[in-house]
Amino acid sequence: MRRSPKTGGTPPATRPRRLLLGVTGGIAAYKTLEVVRRFRRLNWEVQVVMTASARRLLGPESFTALAGRPVAHELFPKKRLVTKDSASPHTAFSHIDLARWADVVLVAPATANCLGKLAAGIADDLLSTLLLAVPIETVRNGRALIAPAMNSRMWEHPSVRRNTALLREQGYVIVTPARGELACGDTGPGRLADVEDLAGAVTAAAEASARLPDLAGTRVVVTAGRTEEPLDPVRVLTNRSSGRLGVALARVFRLAGADVRLVCGAVSVPLPASIPATPAPTADAMLVAVTDAAADCDILVMCAAVGDYRPASVSRNKTHATRLTLVLEKTPDILKAVTASKRPPVVIGFSHDPSVAAAREKLRRKRLDLVVANPFETAGADTIGATLVPARGRTTRLSARSKESFARRLAAEAARLLAAARD
Ligand SMILES: Cc1cc2nc3c(=O)[nH]c(=O)nc-3n(C[C@H](O)[C@H](O)[C@H](O)COP(=O)(O)O)c2cc1C
Repeated sequence: MRRSPKTGGTPPATRPRRLLLGVTGGIAAYKTLEVVRRFRRLNWEVQVVMTASARRLLGPESFTALAGRPVAHELFPKKRLVTKDSASPHTAFSHIDLARWADVVLVAPATANCLGKLAAGIADDLLSTLLLAVPIETVRNGRALIAPAMNSRMWEHPSVRRNTALLREQGYVIVTPARGELACGDTGPGRLADVEDLAGAVTAAAEASARLPDLAGTRVVVTAGRTEEPLDPVRVLTNRSSGRLGVALARVFRLAGADVRLVCGAVSVPLPASIPATPAPTADAMLVAVTDAAADCDILVMCAAVGDYRPASVSRNKTHATRLTLVLEKTPDILKAVTASKRPPVVIGFSHDPSVAAAREKLRRKRLDLVVANPFETAGADTIGATLVPARGRTTRLSARSKESFARRLAAEAARLLAAARD
């Protein structure tokens, strides 16, 4: 396993945790005052860094008062800002000091400009410079969080989409903006995530279990998305899965050093460019692709929402009947087929029944190593809460968290199961 890094790891028990909060020039900047208050009350040290635009929208005084320390904003400060125990003995390097000082970094709100600069490696003020100086382990271990907030048209702009995807691939946790009424009067996606979500994401990032396992040399297959069973040449029978959790899992396994393959049904999120993906639009195609990919993998995570029924016959033409009766038949049981023959050392399945008893029954029936029992409501949502039910060991209930944090937790569990299987 990878050794504990000097920075970005779990802080020694003797000192409070440290949050570095970057505030950029979005109208939602005032909401992060509550984040500062929350973490100060939990006894965290909080250092706020504001951009020039943020300071124009909201003066630094409230942040200074709540954080109990001056807001940092100058790349060339007259006075050293960070405590005497910071890593650098040089007073002139606040950006390096601050980047090393933090256990968790959160930028909230993050403007389109901030995302663009970080994705492009531009360092022209204190915040953008220190973000590039944050140790790569901190980023890979999911302790650098970016919470974008902007007008919907800006959020949906291809350049912003591309920059966000690039940052995700590097390991930044993107706290997805919410949908709703925006400050400019428009309605749509782009609202800064709620304080609860921001605080939850910071807390999850600080957990020791957020650290990535070392999976170099391990082959992982993740299925993602939904199957679409044809009814006729234009219509399909499908479900609401977005593929977001499967894609997040694939990305996390990749960050952990594994050789990852995605087997994908239809997905509503962009696929990571760095991960090979085999398309599997129907249950039959998924069976073939999974059987093939799983033959020589170490960990198989069956995250895709494979429809359990399909039309018994597919009409050759688009049907225009006033009333139509569909006859459905069962699709193949992919998990059972994979575990019946030469199975990978670790096979993880999902159950939409939240009951632990049902998960245990599924574990036995399908010869799995772990079942993730999660309720239906999580399909298509940004967060997931679920119970991890392993074949051996303790059942763990995970409260609702971002799909990225959940993916990190599940990857750690998969690494533990693989180590146990190899013992
Ligand atoms: C009133 C006002 C509100 C703004 N709100 C946002 C916002 O929510 N998101 C965003 O990306 N840009 C917003 N902008 C534009 C940014 O402030 C602008 O792009 C600026 O260059 C960002 O600088 P920074 O990233 O260094 O803070 C806003 C501008 C104004 C004048």
